[in-house]
Order: sequence, then C-alpha cells, then structure tokens
Amino acid sequence: MIPPKRIGILTSGGDCPGLNAVIRAVVKCATRKGWEVYGIPYGTRGFINLEQGNYRSEDLQLREHGCDIPGLLQGLDILQFLSGSILGALNKGDPSDPAIAHEILQGYRFLGLDALIAVGGDGSLDIIYDLAQQGQWNWIAIPKTIDNDVPFTERSLGFDTAVDTVTKAIYDLTFTAASHERVIVVQVMGRDAGHLALHAGIAGGADVILIPELTPVLNDRVINNICWRIAQLRGEGRQFALVVLAEGVKNLEGQKEKYIGDYLAQQIQTHCQQLRQTGKPEFANLNDVNTRATTLGHIQRSGMPSSFDRILAASFGKKAVDLIAAEHYQQMVVWRNGEVHNKPLEEVVPHLKQCHQQKRCPDPVNPEGLMVQTARDLGIYIGDPLIN
Ligand code: F6P
Repeated sequence: MIPPKRIGILTSGGDCPGLNAVIRAVVKCATRKGWEVYGIPYGTRGFINLEQGNYRSEDLQLREHGCDIPGLLQGLDILQFLSGSILGALNKGDPSDPAIAHEILQGYRFLGLDALIAVGGDGSLDIIYDLAQQGQWNWIAIPKTIDNDVPFTERSLGFDTAVDTVTKAIYDLTFTAASHERVIVVQVMGRDAGHLALHAGIAGGADVILIPELTPVLNDRVINNICWRIAQLRGEGRQFALVVLAEGVKNLEGQKEKYIGDYLAQQIQTHCQQLRQTGKPEFANLNDVNTRATTLGHIQRSGMPSSFDRILAASFGKKAVDLIAAEHYQQMVVWRNGEVHNKPLEEVVPHLKQCHQQKRCPDPVNPEGLMVQTARDLGIYIGDPLIN
C-alpha cells in the first residue's frame, strides 16, 4: 500500500483551452486515491515567498469542485468547459536568474511536495527541467500549446480547440470575402510552427496556406504564385479567395512582422496589378483585386475546449497521476497512435534545449508529411512553384 501523496500542479507559459480540464482531471484522479493536491499560482512563480506567507498552503489546496449555482444546477462541475487557467499562467520572467531560482526552490521545499505536475509548452518545460534538477523534484510534464510544437507527442493540449476556432473564423470570413469579391488574408498564430495554419486551412477550405516550414519568406516568387492562383480561381468563376498565413512566415527582408497578414494583403494587391500590366493573357483577369487582412490574435487561445481536448486533458491527467503512483518520475505524457504514453524528460529536454539554442522550431511541420500532401492534392497553393 503506497502512503497518500501530496502533489502540486501548475500551468506555465501562455494559456490555452483545456488547462482547467486537466487540473480537474488530476484533482479527481488524485483525490480518489486519498492524496492532497496543491495548485501553484502563476507557474513556478507561485513558489516564491511561500514560506513568508505569500500564500497559505491550505489556501492552495484543490478539491473536487461543484459550482454554487442556485436551483437544479447546484453542484455542477463546469471546470472542464472553461478556458484559461484557474491557477493563472505566466510567460515572462526568467527563473534562470539564480536569485529567483533560489526562492522558487525554497518555496517548493516549504510545501513538502512528493511530486509536481507541470503543464507547459516547450519553453516552460526547458526552464522547469533545470529547476527540477537543482531541487531534485519528482515531476511529470503535460504538454500544452496551441502551436502543437512540443516534440514526441502528436498532440499538445489546446491545439484541437484552436484548430476549431480558426476553422470557424475562415468559414465566417468566406461569406464577407465572397460578397465583396475580396481576397482575405487570415493571420494565424503558431509562433515558428505551421501546424495550426495548416490544419485549420485544410479544414476551412482555404485556397492558399503559407507556413514557415515551406514558405520561410514572402518573396516575389511566392506572391506572384498567389496572384497566379487568384487568376486561376477567377478563370474558374470564383471572384474571392481565402489565404491562411502562419505568423512565423517572414517578410521579404527575412524579418518577423507583428501584422504580417497586412503586409501580405498589400503585396498581393500590388503584384496582381503589376502582373496584369504585363499584358499576358493569363493575368488579364487580375483587375481590381481587392485585399483585406484579419489577424485572429488571442481569440485562438480561448473558447470552450473541444471534446478531443477534454479527452486529452482527462487522459493526460490520469496518466500523470498513475505515473506518480508508480513513482515513475521525470516523464512527459505524450499522445501517440490514439493512446497516452510517456517519454523520459531526459530525452525530450536536451532536444528542446538544442532547438532553442539554434532558434529552431522543436517540432515543425514535416514538408513531406501527409498533411502537406493532402493540401497539395486538394489544389491548395502551399508554397510550391506554380510560375517562376
Ligand atoms: O505559444 C502560444 C502563442 O499563442 C503563439 O502562437 C503566439 O505567437 C504567442 O503565444 C503569443 O504570445 P503572447 O500571449 O505573449 O502575445
């Protein structure tokens, strides 16, 4: 019989849909084993000054939850439906500063945890790994990010919901694009990865999808190819087009731009005009190409978690608790072939660190992969040369 454990859970880095669902799953699974669960506020920052009474440990304890709603909904557990994180999330500050790291380690010791569950993206996991080594923490990582760029897992928590959000936005933009005969550029998050743009672009029926893995830079060749695609669509009788652009794609000078969608929209308009002026018959229909850009922004990090993200949250939470019960620590839970597995953090984090040092995406879209081929076979322009 394993003695009851005292475990902590924190959410670190940017928020995403499904964080509350995974907290709920951990609390449910752990309390059923008779364990105590402590929610650490604002990532590892919550450990700071713990022993000086910043927070009282009893206030951090998480229990199975039921809402105080009047009437017949009394006791409803809504946590799995809510976005954000009840624990807060922080994606700034540098715990590699030795003074801050020292305070975090002291707070961790003060709480007397047997193990910690850290829900984070690639940046957070890299940082927590170092703290955990210094403090000899027993910990389990749960991957989350709408960018889906944590290596060794096919899915990170939050990605599926974000794909739904972007897909819905593309759908909604289609009708205003059609009514005004416009080309609408939709700028999608994803940092240096194109997974979100690629998946949502396919699901939303985009005509063009640009991701950093295939189109690192918006050069003249790419923009002329987009214009060529617009000319083809017009030739087939369609006067509007939807262009999905991942934010990681850079401008002509190879620089990232906050509003790269606006830049592309303006470039498309100019290039279409120029191509028409060449007098070549294939560009004759590129008259009055009217473009607009929409930057979807942080709406992509919110929304009710999809059923798949809730299943992922439940499965990841259960697996994390099972690993702690087995005292099989220093693992990341991963999703592979429709099941949850675990991967030693010793294998995951060195890879992350190398990518961070080289400023590379830790898990980019495979340019030869099935999703890219699917987009291509559907006739979506995805950065291949159409004209030179
Ligand atoms: O990593 C998640 C993410 O939403 C990226 O897709 C995006 O580039 C970034 O975070 C935005 O960060 P912030 O919330 O700091 O603006």
